[in-house]
Amino acid sequence: MDRIEQIDEIEAIEIELLLRGIYQRYGYDFRNYASASIRRRILNFAKNEGLLTISSVQEKVLHDANTMDRFVLSLTVSVTAMFRDPEFFLEIRRNVVPLLKTYPLIRIWDAGCCTGEEAYSMAIILQEEGIFDKCRIYATDMNESVLRKAKTGIFHLSHMKAYTDNYIQSGGTKSFSEYYTAKYDHAILQHSLRKNIVFAQHNLVSDRSFNEFNLVMLRNVLIYFNEDLRLKVLKLVHDSLMPFGLLALGKRETLRFATHEASYEELDAVEKIYRRTA
Ligand SMILES: C[S@@+](CC[C@H](N)C(=O)[O-])C[C@H]1O[C@@H](n2cnc3c(N)ncnc32)[C@H](O)[C@@H]1O
Repeated sequence: MDRIEQIDEIEAIEIELLLRGIYQRYGYDFRNYASASIRRRILNFAKNEGLLTISSVQEKVLHDANTMDRFVLSLTVSVTAMFRDPEFFLEIRRNVVPLLKTYPLIRIWDAGCCTGEEAYSMAIILQEEGIFDKCRIYATDMNESVLRKAKTGIFHLSHMKAYTDNYIQSGGTKSFSEYYTAKYDHAILQHSLRKNIVFAQHNLVSDRSFNEFNLVMLRNVLIYFNEDLRLKVLKLVHDSLMPFGLLALGKRETLRFATHEASYEELDAVEKIYRRTA
């Protein structure tokens, strides 16, 4: 074994020990996250914290809960936006809302909601379609600090130009600025958008299904996981969907090879929207 191979092997052992230690100490289970990206993020974290080895990351994270909070944030660095992938939200308006309208009470689970932009985007569409009052959006994430931000409904004003463009492309016809009040360099979202959204902590890896939903949005979360974990999480989502319930994945994600693949029809192959048939 040459020196580089040796270093790689030690690093793999250190990562395994680190993730096992975190699971035992804090209950966060990152052991089945996609290995290349988790390695990259751990190495980045070490660099930012000025730590030379992954073993020293382990020591610091296990002994100090504040370091652990930063670690969780860095492992799940989150990109999100209002009306992200506007064509997806256009499809929601055109083909999903008419199906949702047929239910007396509509339960939506936005899993991996990050800082809330996706849930607020849905709230806007549902409000415009006149059905927000009969909807409950359960917006969950494993990361408490993103949820704290989500609950405020306050975003940086500098994002609003891009969000306005997205909103228009998603079929929005109002003036997007009606949905927020600008204060200094922040945009405070209209309070009415908050009223039917419940933000709560939920870990897709270790927590159970908690309701039956008409629509589950699980967008840009499966990409973090390895194949086994993807299948496990898709099973959890399957158990959380009512018969004929709808499932929306991210653009680069798929139901293919999932245990229950045959129990779904594809409503939109490009936007990855599926309907449970059985
Ligand atoms: C890239 S963001 C996606 C946000 C939003 N769904 C979107 O598409 O814009 C991924 C989110 O998944 C969350 N996440 C990662 N692992 C998770 C887990 N095991 N349980 C719940 N949320 C998780 C992260 O904290 C992050 O906020």
